[in-house]
Amino acid sequence: MAALLELKNVSKAFGGLQVISGLDFHVDEHEIVSVIGPNGAGKTTLFNLVTGVYQPDEGEILFDGQSLVGLPPHKITRRGVARTFQTLRLFLNMTVKENVMAAAYGHTRAGVLRSVLRTPGMRREEREIRKLAEERLGFFGQRLMGYRWDQPAYSLSYANRRRLEIARAMATNARLLLLDEPAAGMNPVETHEITELIGQLRDEADYTILVIEHDMHVVEGISDRVVALDHGVKIAEGTFDQVATDPRVVEAYLGTSATARK
Ligand SMILES: Nc1ncnc2c1ncn2[C@@H]1O[C@H](COP(=O)(O)OP(=O)(O)OP(=O)(O)O)[C@@H](O)[C@H]1O
Ligand SMILES: [Mg+2]
Repeated sequence: MAALLELKNVSKAFGGLQVISGLDFHVDEHEIVSVIGPNGAGKTTLFNLVTGVYQPDEGEILFDGQSLVGLPPHKITRRGVARTFQTLRLFLNMTVKENVMAAAYGHTRAGVLRSVLRTPGMRREEREIRKLAEERLGFFGQRLMGYRWDQPAYSLSYANRRRLEIARAMATNARLLLLDEPAAGMNPVETHEITELIGQLRDEADYTILVIEHDMHVVEGISDRVVALDHGVKIAEGTFDQVATDPRVVEAYLGTSATARK
């Protein structure tokens, strides 16, 4: 299988703090890979490097064989990489559907400004975007259905806000989804649902998925492969069982309070 995402010898420091060190890493097309590691291991920074929020100090990041290094975030999104955020970034005063439409607009020719002019072409485009938003929201079944579409995002439960974040990522026509702790703050039932949903995103919606997750039940449930980071270094890689029993991984978790997060 061809690697859709490939990192070669990527490093990043903030001031004197080396946050990612010589990281080699890949995600094959149609694969679900989980990144685990204690708090501060560099997991979110890895996402920020892939999505162009930060530039690596050295190394190469390839998506579908082409370098992403130096591209601004919106161009990386347009190439087909979308993400959700650990700290959610919804427009809380906009409706559920508008949130998804706004995510889609950023990736059309129209753009938000020109759509304000409302030419016939723009109105057609708006209809298409509305349809796309409804289709993406439809993926979440009853959870984000019907009357909820026209409610403001602030009225949603925390779990539904996380679902809406995913719907927004899906509205960009991405091939690779980067999910930063999708199960954070969810109860056991919701956690089970999100585990199933991530599988469906791959099996039914054809995404390749890289996910950061602390809940080991979720990681076990979804991962083709697991990569463990500690202090920005890859300390283990393999199946869930291989990584979860790796002495370096056990030590990394026991050496921090992160074990309390499961
Ligand atoms: N913009 C920044 N400036 C300075 N330091 C940063 C910056 N972003 C992240 N860091 C530091 O880099 C390290 C890794 O942070 P990161 O957010 O990637 O960790 P993480 O693995 O996602 O942790 P968590 O599990 O808590 O989300 C931390 O020590 C953090 O304080
Ligand atoms: Mg993080």
